[in-house]
Amino acid sequence: MANSFDVVIIGSGAAGLTAALNLAEKHRVAVIAKGGLSEGSTAWAQGGIAAVLEPGDTFDAHVEDTMVAGAGLNNRATVEYVVENAPRAIERLAELGVPFNPGESERWHLTREGGHSHRRIVHVDDATGWAVQQALEKAAFANPNITLVPDMVAIDLVTGRHGERYSGEGHVWGVYALNRQTGRVELFTGRATILATGGAGRTYLYSTAPRGATGDGIAMAWRAGCRVSNMEFMQFHPTCLYNLEVKNFLITEAVRGEGGQLKIPTTGHRFMPDFDPRGELAPRDVVARAIDHEIKRLGLDYVHLDISHMPPDFVREHFPNIYTKLMGLGIDITTQPIPVVPAQHYTCGGVLVDLKGRTDLPGLYAAGEVTQSGLHGANRLASNSLLECLVFGEAAAGHIMRHWDEMPEAPPIRPWDESRVSDSDEEVIVQHNWREIRRFMWDYVGIVRTTKRLERAHHRIKLLRREVEEYYGNFRVSPDLIELRNLVDVAELIIRSALRRKESRGLHYTLDYPDTLAEAKDTVLVP
Ligand code: FAD
Ligand code: SIN
Repeated sequence: MANSFDVVIIGSGAAGLTAALNLAEKHRVAVIAKGGLSEGSTAWAQGGIAAVLEPGDTFDAHVEDTMVAGAGLNNRATVEYVVENAPRAIERLAELGVPFNPGESERWHLTREGGHSHRRIVHVDDATGWAVQQALEKAAFANPNITLVPDMVAIDLVTGRHGERYSGEGHVWGVYALNRQTGRVELFTGRATILATGGAGRTYLYSTAPRGATGDGIAMAWRAGCRVSNMEFMQFHPTCLYNLEVKNFLITEAVRGEGGQLKIPTTGHRFMPDFDPRGELAPRDVVARAIDHEIKRLGLDYVHLDISHMPPDFVREHFPNIYTKLMGLGIDITTQPIPVVPAQHYTCGGVLVDLKGRTDLPGLYAAGEVTQSGLHGANRLASNSLLECLVFGEAAAGHIMRHWDEMPEAPPIRPWDESRVSDSDEEVIVQHNWREIRRFMWDYVGIVRTTKRLERAHHRIKLLRREVEEYYGNFRVSPDLIELRNLVDVAELIIRSALRRKESRGLHYTLDYPDTLAEAKDTVLVP
């Protein structure tokens, strides 16, 4: 079945919906999502969105904080562009109805997170992402130019080689996607396509990211011919709840921003000042590594994050969702410490884009966590990610609208060919391989790396690739198989990037090259 639109957007989080709302002023847009519309990371975001909004704070300070966290690898022009566009992006969300918490004397209450030299995070309690997602979805539903298509799993980008006649190798005309309801592969075409598929957190065993964060957009773009950059910089959030039943609940950095202290459970010793003068508010890479160090050194399962010294009303008022969630698990955070461990949280690398969200391929744009835009460098500053989605979602839409008349129409495209495949009777292999990748990525390509561990992971991924390719070539696609194929690509990109970097910088820390080189260089993999 063919679905023809002006623009096809893959992903219904902050990046995809922002692009859609901008484009819909003039164009007919399809937004596809592989599950429910609210199942991306956006809806899970807790802390908030960073922007310079108060007298006393400056764009220069936000830029510098971003560059310091990014260990000098950021592209200054990108950082300036995003920081300067931040206040406007927040204003637009407020116009869409996002109920940011009001301040006492200022318009909005601003909280603080690690690496920020000022209070500059607007938020909606401790569930900012949910409010942002709902406001964007409501506006998109109300817009007759936007067609929202849940349960549609993108498989591969449509390029010139899928045309019925040769039609310009490299140009992207849309996507093939599996309809979960019918089990059929559909074709979505448009003059432009925007990847807004989020990150690749689920490459790792423990991640704060939702189940669908399997790096699909990065893998699709790579297979289509885009360069992918800085994949070694996987961000581990220092404080994920340690609980045997609830595996991936984040405890927002704002808990530390509002006074939360990290302690050794057995002694109560507050250890962060031993590692960094900024204590609990050092950038994430520093805090996650310190926790990892203490857990391994002392043979612990977790450390404690303690905010029980603050007044109970203050804690309940600032963190109502965390308070309620943990009460349900038997932890009263107004009187008890929270057991926490680091877990994968954010993918700093991704598809290379310029300031307009353009990728290497004509007709293909990307925005949000799927990209490497130059904003985050070697380590993302807290609460800069939703911001990047908003700014780049708008930038990509703006470029498409300004250049619409120069963009060729999609040629006739061949439908998906299922004639050579059959139904699989070995779905269990897919599940097994999923688990295997996530386990060895956690063990060998985690917070602290060595060349030997990376080589071991590389060897494993090459073996798995053969198995998955054979399986993919012979059997009808299923959502799990599509994701597994992408996980293999993305895991290999992470490992290859990590092996290339002969230094430690930001989130990439290797015992074999502990020093940081004088010159900061991106890792760029070319297909
Ligand atoms: P997402 O919101 O992840 O959306 C991805 C979309 O792509 C989804 O709709 C998904 O269905 C779709 N998709 C993916 N693959 C396919 C496919 N194959 N076919 C079709 N559709 C597909 N950042 C902040 O700035 N502040 C915070 O406070 C904050 N808190 C966070 C808390 C948690 C627990 C997590 C996990 C992240 C947090 N982040 C935060 C990071 C931030 O939420 C994400 O980086 C951001 O929301 C990514 O938005 P996105 O639009 O790029 O992708
Ligand atoms: C958090 O609330 O700690 C997450 C913020 C972020 O990832 O930017």
